[in-house]
This record gives sequence, C-alpha cells and structure tokens, in this order.
Amino acid sequence: MISKCLFPAAGYGTRFLPATKAVPKEMLPILTKPLLQYGVEEAISAGIKNMAIVTGRGKRSIEDHFDNSFELESQLSGTSKEHYLYEIKDVIEKATFTYVRQQEMLGLGHAILTGEPLIGNEPFAVILADDLCDCDNAGVLQQMIEIYKKYECSIVAIEEVPNSEVHKYGIVECKAINNSEDIFHVTNMIEKPSPKNSPSNMAIIGRYILTPDIFNILRKISPDHSSEIQITDALLAQAKSGNVIAYKFKGKRFDCGDVNGYVKATNFFARKEGII
Ligand code: UTP
Repeated sequence: MISKCLFPAAGYGTRFLPATKAVPKEMLPILTKPLLQYGVEEAISAGIKNMAIVTGRGKRSIEDHFDNSFELESQLSGTSKEHYLYEIKDVIEKATFTYVRQQEMLGLGHAILTGEPLIGNEPFAVILADDLCDCDNAGVLQQMIEIYKKYECSIVAIEEVPNSEVHKYGIVECKAINNSEDIFHVTNMIEKPSPKNSPSNMAIIGRYILTPDIFNILRKISPDHSSEIQITDALLAQAKSGNVIAYKFKGKRFDCGDVNGYVKATNFFARKEGII
C-alpha cells in the first residue's frame, strides 16, 4: 500500500558544525550505524522496499554507503572481519535506492517537493533520519501504516513536548477520533509558535505519511520569513479539508539533529547493547 519512503537529507546540519562540514548529518553514527541507516531499517521493517533520498552538495557518502564496496569486500572476504559487513549488505539487498539532489536548501517542504520525481502519484512515507526512534514492537512507520490502511489520508506522528520547546516544532491543534487516546483529527497547525501562541504541546516529529496531492499544494506555498517552504503550511491546507490525522506513536524519539539529543541517543543505545 505504501511502497516508497522519502528521506530528505539535504540540510546543512548547522547545529553539528564542524562535524557536518564534510560529513552529512544523516551519516553521523549512533554507535557504529549512521542515522540514515536506522531510518532505512525502520522503513524496511514497515514493508517498504523503495528508498528515495533527497541529497545535496557534499552528500555523496550517502550513495556510497548504500552501495557495494568491492575493494572492501574483497579485502575482508574470508577473514575474521568479514562479519562487520553483514549488517549493511543485508540492508542493500532488501531495498532499492534512488536519489535526487536539492539544488537550493529551501526547507523541508521544498525538499519533499524535490523528491516528487522519485515518488510519482502515490501515497508515500517520509522519515527525517535525525529523529531517531526506538520502539519495543512495531516501528513508528509500521504503526502509522496500520492507521493509513483505515483512514487513507495524510498522517503526522506527534509527541507531547514541554511548553518551553514548542518553538522548535510544528505544533498541531486536534480532536480525538472516537475518544481515542492516540489518534486525532488535525484542525490547525502552526510552525514553531511561541509558548504563548501555541495551540497545544503536541509536536510533529520526523515521520509522515503523505498523500500525493501534497505536491501540488507545496508548489503553491510561498516561502516563510526565513525563505523556507514549510511542510506544515502544506499539511495545514490538507487539514482544512479534514484530511490529516495526528498519531501519538508508541516508542521513544531522540532529536539527533541537536547535540543534546544525539548524546542521549548514544547513551540509550549503548545501554541497550550492553556497552555501558
Ligand atoms: P533540519 O532543519 O533539522 O535540518 O531539517 P538542517 O537544516 O540540516 O539542520 P540545522 O538546523 O542546519 O542544524 C530536517 C530534515 O530535513 C532535511 C534535513 O537534511 C533534515 O533531515 N532538509 C532540511 C532538507 O533535505 N532540505 C532542506 O532544505 C532543509
């Protein structure tokens, strides 16, 4: 039903400079695995096989990562280190990867529109790899696909955040569907409101399922005061016709686009793996 996942990965990663000067933020590792690989594995476990990645200048290592490396493979073949390659080889075998380059970094909405030729006219998933999620059972995307099967409209994953942090997120105003505790109809949304003007503390995190009409809406959206085209504005247009659901996912999320969240994620996964 959802066969493609789009990964916007063209941003500058300014908050991680100097690390991100020559290394894409999405390639920063948590333990031994780049953030983007966690995202791709989440999509694969949700049954998705086509990964569509929006890259930009200086991001070629992303393409190399999801490709064979004959020199490395022949060097390690038959040695005691061969097993180090198994995990990434498995990912490469289970999915196909297509790429498009965003020529100007004009925001997340623009990055998603740049991915249109890779997606076409079908509903699709979006993962922002710097939001790293860990779930006990089904991954966030798999949980969202189950909801999509019933409602067949755009879905955003949400999380409650402290009031002091609403200015970092797209915030939704919503109504519970049939008194549900985790599925809501979105009635309004605001990008990065001040705590005073925020309609709630329900923040959109980096997981979406979008219906393809989003592309035509995005084409008409004007850049905001920081010259970025915001996905929140396009989703608001869909929400006004009652076509956006917010889903409070089950699991943990780490904002790895920020040093604080990145360190927390590293500690969490190190503990989970029994390293510390
Ligand atoms: P962020 O705003 O978190 O990423 O965008 P950023 O711009 O790289 O980070 P800072 O603020 O400079 O530190 C969320 C996601 O959207 C992608 C980013 O790569 C990231 O995965 N993005 C953002 C694009 O692909 N293109 C853009 O123009 C902006």
